[in-house]
Amino acid sequence: MEKTIIFILFILNFLPFSLKAEEGMWPPVFLSQRIGEMQKMGLKMTAEEIYSINNSSLKDAIVQFGSGCTGVLVSEKGLILTNHHCGFGSIQKQSRMEHDYLTNGFWAGSMEEELPNPGLTVTFLVRMEDVSIKVMEGVTASMTELDRAAVIKKNIEKIEKGASQGAGFEAKVKPFYYGNQYFLCINEVFKDVRLVGAPPSNIGSFGGDTDNWAWPRHTGDFSIFRIYASKDNKPADYSKENVPYKPKKYLSVSMKGVEKGDFTMIFGFPGTTKEYLTSYGVDLIAFKENPVKVSFRQQRLDIMKNAMASDRRTRMQYASKHAGIANGWKKMMGESKGIERLGTVGRKHEEEKGFAEWANADQARAIKYGALFNAAEKTYKRLYPYDLAGIFVTEGFQGIELLKFASGFKDIIKLSSQKDAKESDLVKNAEKLRSATLTFFKDYQQSLDRKVALALLTMISNKMSQEFKPDFFKEIEKKQHGKWAGFVDRLFATSVFADSSKLIQILSEPGAKSLRKLAKDPAYLLIASSAIMMDKTISPVMLECNRTIDSLQRIYIEGLMHYENGRLLYPDANSTMRIACGKVDDYSPEDAVNYRYFTTVAGILQKENPDIYDYVVDPKLKNLILSRDFGEYVDKDGTMHVAFTASNHTTGGNSGSPVLDGNGSLIGLNFDRNWEGTMSDLQYDPDQCRNIILDIRYCLFIIDRFAGAQRLVNEMKLVND
Ligand code: ARG
Ligand code: GLU
Repeated sequence: MEKTIIFILFILNFLPFSLKAEEGMWPPVFLSQRIGEMQKMGLKMTAEEIYSINNSSLKDAIVQFGSGCTGVLVSEKGLILTNHHCGFGSIQKQSRMEHDYLTNGFWAGSMEEELPNPGLTVTFLVRMEDVSIKVMEGVTASMTELDRAAVIKKNIEKIEKGASQGAGFEAKVKPFYYGNQYFLCINEVFKDVRLVGAPPSNIGSFGGDTDNWAWPRHTGDFSIFRIYASKDNKPADYSKENVPYKPKKYLSVSMKGVEKGDFTMIFGFPGTTKEYLTSYGVDLIAFKENPVKVSFRQQRLDIMKNAMASDRRTRMQYASKHAGIANGWKKMMGESKGIERLGTVGRKHEEEKGFAEWANADQARAIKYGALFNAAEKTYKRLYPYDLAGIFVTEGFQGIELLKFASGFKDIIKLSSQKDAKESDLVKNAEKLRSATLTFFKDYQQSLDRKVALALLTMISNKMSQEFKPDFFKEIEKKQHGKWAGFVDRLFATSVFADSSKLIQILSEPGAKSLRKLAKDPAYLLIASSAIMMDKTISPVMLECNRTIDSLQRIYIEGLMHYENGRLLYPDANSTMRIACGKVDDYSPEDAVNYRYFTTVAGILQKENPDIYDYVVDPKLKNLILSRDFGEYVDKDGTMHVAFTASNHTTGGNSGSPVLDGNGSLIGLNFDRNWEGTMSDLQYDPDQCRNIILDIRYCLFIIDRFAGAQRLVNEMKLVND
C-alpha cells in the first residue's frame, strides 16, 4: 500500500505536464477559465477588472515597451516605469562625453526637459479575439504542409487587413499552440515617448553582468519615460505640440511592502518559451547550440571587457553592446546547466514513451500520432549540421562588427549594378546608409574589432565543418595557411567600411561606379560569401526541417491536450500580453543553503568595491544609506528593501513588467530570473524558478531622496493597503 502511494507520488513528480499553480504565462482572454484558481491564490479582483474590452481595466495600464520589454503607466499624465536595462539603448543614444547620462543619470526638471527618442514606441493591447476558424478556412487534412501554410498566410493577411482600424492601430494575427489556435491582436502604437529620468549606471545596473541572472540582487533597475499624444489623445509622431497622454487606466503604487507567501501577479509581454519541445528539441538547444554560441560570445566579451576597462570612451561606446551579448551568453550557460540538473531530456524521453503507448493503444490515434517521435528524431538529426553551420555564420562572421556593418550595404550594391536603376533610388538609399554610417562609427573602436575579427575568424577556421565554409573564406584560408593575422591587418587597412570619411564621401555623391567598387571590398566579399552559403545551402534545409518540426509540434500538442484529458495547457509565450501568478517566495539552491526572499541596502555596501566597476557605489547613495535617510520608503522592519523574489513564470520580454498585489496595486518591477531557474523557458521547476523584482519602494526612494525628483512621485498615486 505504502509502496503504491510512494510510486504514485514519484510518477506525479515526474510528470512534466502536472502543472503547478504558478506555472504558465496565460493570455488574458483565458481569464474566465483561470480566475477561480487565481482568486484561490490570493487575487481580490474580478476577471472584468483585469481584462475588459468594454471598460477600462488593468490591461490598459500595461504597454509593450519598444519591441522587447514591458512598461507600466503610473500617472494620469502618461508616466511609465520600465527597467533601466530596457531604457538603456535610449539613454545611451542621448549620452555624449560632455553629458554622459548613462553613467551619471538623467532627471528632467520639467516636462519641457523630457527628451524625445526617435524610433522608440510603446504599444497597448486594445483587444484580442480568437480567429482560429477564419484562419483555418480552406485547410484540409490531406493538404501538404506547404499548401496549408500558404492558405493560412492568405487568410491571415485578409483578417489583418479587414481588422485595421486606421492610423495608430495595428492588427496582428498570432499562432498559439504551434498553430492549433490563432488570435487577432488589435494594438495601438504611440511613437512619441520621452525620457524623463534614469538613475546613474552604478544604481540602475549595479552588479552589472557579474550579478546578472543571479540572486541576491541590489540593482535599481528602473527608468522613467512619458508617452506624448496629439491634442485629442491619439498616437502621433514627435511634435512640440504633443501633450502628455491621458491613459484609460494607471496603477496605484503600494507602499506596503511584501511578505513571504503574498500573492503576486505579473502582466507583460513575454517573448518566447518552448515548453512543449520534444526531448530531441531540448537536446539540440541545451547541449548542442548553447555551448557553441557561448564559446563564440566568450571571445568577444573577453576582448570587449579588456578594452572597456582601459578606456572611458570605449566603455561608453560598448556598454550596451557588451550587456546584450553577455546577457544571452550567461543565460544560455544557466539554461543548459538547469536542463542537465533536471534531466529534462531523459524525462521528456520517458513521457514520450508514455504518450506513444497511449497513442498506439487506439487505431485512429496511432495513425495520427504514432510516427511523431521517430519523425522528430530523424528531422533533428538532419537539421543538426546545418543548424550548427548557421550559428557559425550568425555568431561568427556576423559577430565581427565590420562585416555585419558591410552587410547592410547589400541593397545599394545590388541597385548600383542594375542598368535601369533610378538615380533617385540610389540617392535615397545612400542617404539612409549615410545616417547608419554615422551611427555605426559613433560607437565603434576599430582596434577592438580587429581583435574580435582575428579571434572569430581563427575559430571559424578551426571549428567550422569544411563543407559549410563560404567560398571566399576558403580562398583566404588556403593562402593564409591557418594564420589569420595578416589577412585581418589587410582587411582593416584596405576596406572602405573601416574608413568612415571615405565611406561618407562615397555616400554623399553616390555614383553607380563608386558604389560598384564596394562590391569588391574584402569586408563585403567575405560577409556576402557567408550570406550566399547561408541562403543557398544552410537556410533551405533549416527551413524545411523547422517546418517539419513545427508541424510535428502542432500535432504533438494537439495530442497532448487529449492525452491530458482536455486540461487547459498554457500556450508558449509569443510576445503577446500574458498574466503569470505566483507568490513571494524564497528558495534553496543547494543543500544547506537558503536564500531569503528580499535584499536590503546593507547588501549594496557589502558588495561595494571601488576597484570593480560593477560594484562601485554612488557616493550620494552611500551617504543616504549611512545616514539612514530612507523617508517613508523604509520597510516596517526598519530596513530599506531593494529587491525580492517570487515564483511567477516569466521570460525575456517580462523586463519592466509590473508586479501587482491582489488588489492590483504596483509592488515592484520584474527585471530578471535567478541562476538556478534560467531553464524555465524549456522547463519550469516550481522548486527553483524565481523571478527577481525591484521593490517599488526602492525605486521611489531613488527618485525622491537620491534624485530629488519629487515632481514625479507627486504624480503617482501612493496607497498603503
Ligand atoms: N537578465 C536580465 C534580462 O534578461 C537583465 C539583463 C540586463 N542586465 C545586464 N547586466 N546585462 O534581460
Ligand atoms: N531581463 C529579462 C528581460 O529583459 C527578464 C528576465 C527573464 O528573462 O526572465 O526581459
